[in-house]
Amino acid sequence: MRNTIKVSNATMPRLLYGTAWKKDKTADLVTLAIKCGFRGIDTACQPKHYNETGVGEAIQRLVDEGITRKDLYIQTKFTPLEGQDPFNIPYDRQAPLDEQVAQSFEVSKKNLGVSYVDGLILHSPLKNRDQLMMVWQAMEQIYNRGEAKRIGISNCYDLEVLKQLYETASVKPTILQNRFYQETDYDHEMRQWCQEQKMIYQSFWTLTANPHILSNEIVQRAAQTYQKTTAQILFRVLVEIGVVPLTGTCSEKHMKEDLEIFNFSLPLNIVQEIESLFTPYL
Ligand SMILES: NC(=O)c1ccc[n+]([C@@H]2O[C@H](COP(=O)([O-])OP(=O)(O)OC[C@H]3O[C@@H](n4cnc5c(N)ncnc54)[C@H](OP(=O)(O)O)[C@@H]3O)[C@@H](O)[C@H]2O)c1
Repeated sequence: MRNTIKVSNATMPRLLYGTAWKKDKTADLVTLAIKCGFRGIDTACQPKHYNETGVGEAIQRLVDEGITRKDLYIQTKFTPLEGQDPFNIPYDRQAPLDEQVAQSFEVSKKNLGVSYVDGLILHSPLKNRDQLMMVWQAMEQIYNRGEAKRIGISNCYDLEVLKQLYETASVKPTILQNRFYQETDYDHEMRQWCQEQKMIYQSFWTLTANPHILSNEIVQRAAQTYQKTTAQILFRVLVEIGVVPLTGTCSEKHMKEDLEIFNFSLPLNIVQEIESLFTPYL
């Protein structure tokens, strides 16, 4: 299997390195992840959880290693006010929403030291439809200038909200980044709908929210048979079904193990058996 997936005329790595909660270790960990073989980076203009300048520092360092901007897939987010630390907001909180998006994006470009991003994601839907569309249209402008190669949304668990956005948008979302967990039935319906629209579903909390899947006997048996860890089995099944998981591991061993999922395959019946654990209607 190739380690990239096609999305609207371009590609995205099938496994992304997540940069949340790494604080002053961000630059070192992102550098290490890329040296290990990751080519996709997820971050956000949200100082509360992400050190976006640390990501930029790593990108800069990697140029010296011969890894240039075009070798990387870089994705950041616009985080609405509710998701920001009120004492550290990376844009003017009094500005209209579209202006907040524009300011946040300028900060992201500066933090990352790039002239464009491969993905710009709205961190969470806004309170109402008008606000959502105002933010979306500001993101469309960035897309139309060629400064974001694709745009998407995160933490959207209501299919109707996603459908409405899709129908109203001039530039359609091509990414949905969501928490992959039991409480939402693993977004079964959303994932199916995304597939129909050729939208990429990215998962987070993939390991942390699912210890019961990792300890399930089907997954344990597959891990034993194929001499892999249960995390590798779960990640491999997800990429087999078109999900792009995020991993924010801080361990070099786990980085290598996570990337190793592209070097083995599982028989279809095992993939389907494991998929049925998080796709209740299969
Ligand atoms: N859109 C959003 O609202 C949102 C929210 C949360 C996260 N995210 C994104 O998603 C990324 C990932 O976050 P996450 O919440 O999924 O959690 P995570 O930061 O990836 O943490 C996963 C846990 O699994 C462990 N782990 C990773 N690979 C492993 C492996 N191969 N074997 C065993 N353990 C392994 C890690 O421990 P070690 O460090 O010891 O490996 C860590 O404790 C974030 O960095 C961020 O970019 C987005």
